[in-house]
Amino acid sequence: MVIIAPSLLSADFSRLQEEVADIERGGAEWLHLDVMDGHFVPNITFGPGLVKALRPHSKLFFDVHLMIEQPDKYIEEFAKSGADMIVVHAEATVHLHRTIQNIKQQGVKAGVALNPATSLAALEYILPELDMVLLMSVNPGFGGQKYIPIERKLQELKAMCERLGVNPLIQVDGGITPETAPKVIDAGANVLVAGSAVFGKPDRQAAIAALRSKNV
Ligand code: DX5
Ligand code: ZN
Repeated sequence: MVIIAPSLLSADFSRLQEEVADIERGGAEWLHLDVMDGHFVPNITFGPGLVKALRPHSKLFFDVHLMIEQPDKYIEEFAKSGADMIVVHAEATVHLHRTIQNIKQQGVKAGVALNPATSLAALEYILPELDMVLLMSVNPGFGGQKYIPIERKLQELKAMCERLGVNPLIQVDGGITPETAPKVIDAGANVLVAGSAVFGKPDRQAAIAALRSKNV
């Protein structure tokens, strides 16, 4: 079963509570929250205040994708605000092991994201600690970008997980549509982030179903 995690970045920001309720009714399992600081990525979005404001209105699993420098400064606040999983970029923290321990100490699940050009070697010694790996299939910063083929990296990640005897969730983020979804699922992804392919469509239930259509 593939988990669909619509990205709030493509929702109507003037009606966020209704937008989240709409994807929950539409069959999404997770909500993906893209936090951007204008430094690690060129865009700025929102902080823990928004996570906290939405938390009482949704039962969805809150998957918080931190595209920020110095993530350790904010982990506790995001956890207290209602994140169920916090994902940090390997490129954004020097002491990745310490950052992952910080997330786990807060009692939430921990993931590591890699930009398209970052080698899987960055995961070799941290993989057994992770609940999820996020492979970016666009350069982070904006919704609606074109999918960068990532199937070989996914297959190599699967092989690495088998070699190390671990089984983290494998998430793909960026340019996921009904056309690209089957490719990444076949290559090993089991959590799909989709911004414009869900929130950009009027019928969210149909949009979510379309992402699963070739793989149920
Ligand atoms: C990009 C974000 C994504 C983005 C995906 O930096 O991490 O989560 O919202 O948007 P789409 O699905 O439109 O590529
Ligand atoms: Zn994201």
